[in-house]
Amino acid sequence: MVVKTLRCARVLQLTLAVIKPDAVAHPLIVEALHQNILENNFVIVRKKDLMWKRSDSEKFYAEHEGRFFYQRLVEFMSSGPMRAYILAREDAITHWRELMGPTKVYRARYTTPNSMRAQYGLTDTRNTTHGSDSEESAKREIAFFFPEFSIEQWLQKEEPCFRVGQMEYDQQKQIHTSTKDI
Ligand code: RTP
Ligand code: MG
Repeated sequence: MVVKTLRCARVLQLTLAVIKPDAVAHPLIVEALHQNILENNFVIVRKKDLMWKRSDSEKFYAEHEGRFFYQRLVEFMSSGPMRAYILAREDAITHWRELMGPTKVYRARYTTPNSMRAQYGLTDTRNTTHGSDSEESAKREIAFFFPEFSIEQWLQKEEPCFRVGQMEYDQQKQIHTSTKDI
């Protein structure tokens, strides 16, 4: 059990992070990415392993409909299991996207060789991870993957505990939980 010592002055920001099917197919890569999340001081608020139907994929990526990569993207994202996280941190959205690296794997290898996509990405489509790109998309994407999760309730009950470090890492569930009665 690892007790965190995170203390933040500002309200923690939430983001939606996904480990895509190309990476989930390799348990060691999933484990390495999970460790990377912990080492970068993210609070793991929720974690879910799931698989999409093609219709889920089409709905999630509707903004890209018509782009040349759309068909292969929706096919790939419904081709196998993936893992979704709700992560919290100061500047969680930007920080997670920095860890992912650029969308295109060859660019990632050239510009940011330590990024997740540079290390594990296979192609511009099979690029290991997804991350929300704004607070608005984080809200929408969290609701898409975790419809049972209430951001308002989390802000009221869990966030104040996490922000002052009142939490522990549950090794079995692989998420952080508050150590205060809520
Ligand atoms: P993501 O949404 O997955 O976090 O990635 P992103 O913001 O960096 O990239 P975005 O432009 O939103 O594209 C969504 C996903 O579509 C696939 N894609 N393929 N072949 C291509 O040139 C291409 N461009 C985008 C990738 O899987 C990308 O992550
Ligand atoms: Mg995107």
